[in-house]
Amino acid sequence: MSKTARRAPFRATPASPPLSIVILAAGQGRRMRSDIPKVLQPLAGAPLLAHVLELAASLVPAATHVVHGHGGEAVRERFAQATTLQWWRQSEQRGTGHALLQALPGIPDTHRVLVLYGDVPLLRGETLRSLLESAGRHGGVALLTALLDDPEGYGRIVRDARGQLRRIVEQRDAGARERRIREVNTGVLVAPARLLRAWLARLSPENAQGEYYLTDVVAMAVRQRRSVATLTAADATEVLGVNDKLQLAEAEAEYRRRRARQLMAHGVTLIDPARIDLRGAISVGRDVLLDANVVLEGPVELADGVRIGANCVLSNAQIGARTVLHPNCVVQGVRVGSDCQVGPFTRLRPQADVGDGVHLGNFVEIKNSRIGAGSKVNHLSYIGDSTVGRDVNVGAGSITCNYDGMNKLRTDIGDAAFIGSGSMLVAPVKIGDGATIGAGSTITSEAPAGKLTLARARQVTIEHWQRPRKGGRKS
Ligand code: UD1
Ligand code: CA
Repeated sequence: MSKTARRAPFRATPASPPLSIVILAAGQGRRMRSDIPKVLQPLAGAPLLAHVLELAASLVPAATHVVHGHGGEAVRERFAQATTLQWWRQSEQRGTGHALLQALPGIPDTHRVLVLYGDVPLLRGETLRSLLESAGRHGGVALLTALLDDPEGYGRIVRDARGQLRRIVEQRDAGARERRIREVNTGVLVAPARLLRAWLARLSPENAQGEYYLTDVVAMAVRQRRSVATLTAADATEVLGVNDKLQLAEAEAEYRRRRARQLMAHGVTLIDPARIDLRGAISVGRDVLLDANVVLEGPVELADGVRIGANCVLSNAQIGARTVLHPNCVVQGVRVGSDCQVGPFTRLRPQADVGDGVHLGNFVEIKNSRIGAGSKVNHLSYIGDSTVGRDVNVGAGSITCNYDGMNKLRTDIGDAAFIGSGSMLVAPVKIGDGATIGAGSTITSEAPAGKLTLARARQVTIEHWQRPRKGGRKS
């Protein structure tokens, strides 16, 4: 099986100084029009900031700092488990330079600093590794740029006649000619902590927004004749910043495309790559097929030859070789064996453990139960808190009554048992190996192995009975 969410760690060579990553995440995100802080808005089911933190971790830095402000406590709480993060509060949003300044007291002069953004979630590890390389090992500065057809809103990269970087001008400070520049600043930057400390101290808010612009350090470096390397992101979608719900949806679509491409590169057949959602870790075998509108929320493992029908939702699931999920199944926290037929419309709930060659049909719900190999539960059944043996047949509409209003109780069905349709198995109860339960039985005590057990009223027919007639005599 191959994992599709693989990332090679960035290996710091002995010569390169330790890396500190600073993630700027104090912005309010007013354009989201939401009570949820911007960096907690969900992308592929996880907060924007979680994506950036994962990216940061893939570079194996010496330290990761997050500058938070708006909704800061909620953000910190959400990431309380990430104990290695260092948090810095920027109580007033006075610009990106001011934001970075908040974290600098925690960073030694000998480190180099990589600046990332809580709302730029789609950057690739490879791109950042290339950027670190272009900064060089000895305290260089490097800036990530992008070429955009529509550079509206971004800071523009101003170069001289020879193509040398001069400075960055923000949209609101730019003249008409500068606004036509299509090369934009992504904000992502690498520089030695020692230089940043000196430069940030000298920033001034004399600009259209009255802010301390981090981007002004570029002109300072140029003035000091320090070379600033630039790297243009190969793929402009990588640097997409998420400021409103439209960009959030664009990021989601890009994420979806990316994950779909990864799966196809691993040989998975996608009936329509635009109609599939893949989140978290997904491993796939050979010749896996996913039909339209499948949602996979990792960890999900699909073995060789698995086919997932339209509209299935799987999370935390392990599906064995050649098993087919017919359309509209919902599967969560489950292991399914090989060569099974599941659905359409089957619901598998946590701790369902389904053996090989099992058939589960429409409107069947399985929870916290083991279903032995070769067994069939084909129509309208609920099996909860049960152990079902091998080659058992559960007839249509039969259910386990596993809850007495207080406790969950177990049902044990032996190998090769046959449960007639419409049976109620009232737990705790045991059905012996090879037992047959007559249709419509309500079973409240042990049904012995190899025998027919019936528990239902005997059928009677009333001779000479007549239906009441309208307006007839009241009795
Ligand atoms: C910034 C860049 C611009 C670049 C663009 C890329 C500056 C001055 N401009 O502009 O050149 O093209 O990003 O998306 O750097 N933040 C704080 N505290 C603050 C201000 C911002 O933490 O006081 C954080 C925000 O949460 C956000 C990021 O910094 O994650 C960028 O801030 P934003 O105001 O969106 O900058 P832009 O105007 O987009
Ligand atoms: Ca922005």
